[in-house]
Amino acid sequence: MITAIDHLGIAVRSLDEAVPLYESALGLKCLGREEVPSQQVRTAFFDAGGVHLELLEPTSPDSAVGRFLSERGEGIHHVAFRTDDIAGQLQQAAAAGVRLIHEKPFAGAAGKQVAFLHPKSTRGVLTELCALQPGATGAH
Ligand code: CO
Repeated sequence: MITAIDHLGIAVRSLDEAVPLYESALGLKCLGREEVPSQQVRTAFFDAGGVHLELLEPTSPDSAVGRFLSERGEGIHHVAFRTDDIAGQLQQAAAAGVRLIHEKPFAGAAGKQVAFLHPKSTRGVLTELCALQPGATGAH
């Protein structure tokens, strides 16, 4: 079951430029940064009333976020839904005819298990499913 919107992923060219902008323009406080080698990104997280913003700076131009930036520029990259059953959620999406980018969840930021649905199957929105791993706090 989907239990919340966990975070919005926003592609940026530079965390060092984007983080101070979010802090000064919106008064949000950066909760921390984390490099996620599995996705070739550096992330910075903000909390906006329980929904996180996840700024994403690619560590390689050939990464998914790097290609997104060169094709579409900065902007909203993905919407992440929290689920209490990521495997079941992937099965449900596949049964509904959605193309899965990942058949199986893998380790994402903050000790979460994540998997993505292809935007061509979800009306243009790259969709992340995420779930806490047993024992993980999920805190940033
Ligand atoms: Co994400």
